Amino acid sequence: MSFCKTPFFVALTAVCLVWSFCGHADTANTLVVHADKGEWTIAPEIYGHFAEHLGRCIYDGIWVGEDSDIPNIRGYRKDIVEALKALRIPVLRWPGGCFADEYHWKDGIGPREQRPAMINTHWGMVTEDNSFGTHEFLDLCELLDTEAYIAGNVGSGSIRDMQDWVEYMTFDGDSAMAMLRRANGREKPWRVRYFGVGNENWACGGHMTPEYYADLYKRYQTYVRSYSDNPILKIACGPNDWDTRWMDVVLERAKRHMDGISLHYYVFTGPHWWEKGSATEFDESEWFTLMKKSLDVAEVLRQQIEVMDKHDPEKRVGLYFDEWGTWWNPTPGSNPGFLVQQNTLRDALSAGIFLNIFNQHCDRVKMANIAQTVNVLQAMAHTRDADMFLTPTYHVFEMFKEHQGATLLPIDLACAPYERDEHKVPSLNASASKSEAGTVTITLCNLHPTNEAALNCSIQGMDASEVSGRILTADEMNAHNTFEQPDAVAPRQFTDATLDNNVIQVMVPAKSIVALKVR
Ligand code: AHR
Repeated sequence: MSFCKTPFFVALTAVCLVWSFCGHADTANTLVVHADKGEWTIAPEIYGHFAEHLGRCIYDGIWVGEDSDIPNIRGYRKDIVEALKALRIPVLRWPGGCFADEYHWKDGIGPREQRPAMINTHWGMVTEDNSFGTHEFLDLCELLDTEAYIAGNVGSGSIRDMQDWVEYMTFDGDSAMAMLRRANGREKPWRVRYFGVGNENWACGGHMTPEYYADLYKRYQTYVRSYSDNPILKIACGPNDWDTRWMDVVLERAKRHMDGISLHYYVFTGPHWWEKGSATEFDESEWFTLMKKSLDVAEVLRQQIEVMDKHDPEKRVGLYFDEWGTWWNPTPGSNPGFLVQQNTLRDALSAGIFLNIFNQHCDRVKMANIAQTVNVLQAMAHTRDADMFLTPTYHVFEMFKEHQGATLLPIDLACAPYERDEHKVPSLNASASKSEAGTVTITLCNLHPTNEAALNCSIQGMDASEVSGRILTADEMNAHNTFEQPDAVAPRQFTDATLDNNVIQVMVPAKSIVALKVR
């Protein structure tokens, strides 16, 4: 993406400022899509999800049990299953998060009424009755036709526990663990494609140094075996956001034993982790801050990938961005340990920015998992008894889903800045891909809350004959859905894009996300 580096940009800025003072759209934003130049596939797993035993994500959000009055499929909420299927979710990470490093999987198998209870010490000190365990999770993955990503326990679990778990889930022959699985009702092993060796071991997963973790990682991963027809990919615990030292040390010591390494990055606007800002009550300066912090993920990636390139220039080790999203103060009146937050148009813009940037780094980023699926943090949906509503962020995932498995197309974007106080960011953010069938998908975010953007989009290297689109926007920056108004923010057809001679003229409304389909 090119931004603010040329004399052309200076002239462009001047033009745009005049236009925006007059309340008009700027006219000189340009996007060139190189439709014949793609090199890398956008891993479908970039559109992945994460469900932790945290608050009401699993219980109430996904699992209500077979005897519930809430419509369910073998205990899973029907509305949630249908909503997730419509997104074609490619991978689901479980059971944590911080919960993973205190989870003992053997407590979550066998007859439910006999499973021991534990305290969920990280999330509200509530009793976890283990009624949702390995069988319930892996059966859900089969129901959703999604890959399973298990996060193993390094913080408080033993190597033997980890080894047994993998054998229990994936071994097809005769062994103590495979027989135990059969005794618990599952004859054939499940497919488990991804196994994470610990989570945030620099904090809730054991407060380790990278040196200590790297050595532990090598020991634990040795016993994570690929059985039968289940080649398992091993993911090491990577750093938090800007911590390149953790990345450097863990790769230096252990890179040849891993298929991937994780990265976490959450965004908020408040001054501290304990004062993150309100999800719904904010002014334009907090809107701007979130746009800027979301765009910063590109710089986080640049710095972490630079370290990865040093150790792994052939790009064998994937970057698994297995936790990301917005994090706000808990909804007033909710249990603060449950991380309940509303989700507005601002969150949707943030998600669009993240996904566009992940697409653009798909040579290295092989998975990303938004936190979390239901009722927690930047959720796809909220539930209350039998009611459910989808969030604006859900709609972004739905609008972007054609990027899954498509070829990333190089783009050149030049656009007016969005300025606030001393700072400025590009007002537009985009990515493009081409499906096997030849359809080009272009996803655009207009970060400016009041200025629409006239965009001249030139498609090079293909004969474009048709354009159609969908848009997500609303009148207010903090527009959101509720149980009473579930469709206050929902996608609609977009008609402000016209194609002539391989050039699309698009008027991208203020604070909107537009997905164009070009054939
Ligand atoms: O997603 C909530 C928590 O955030 C996860 O449990 C942890 O890994 C991270 O700190």
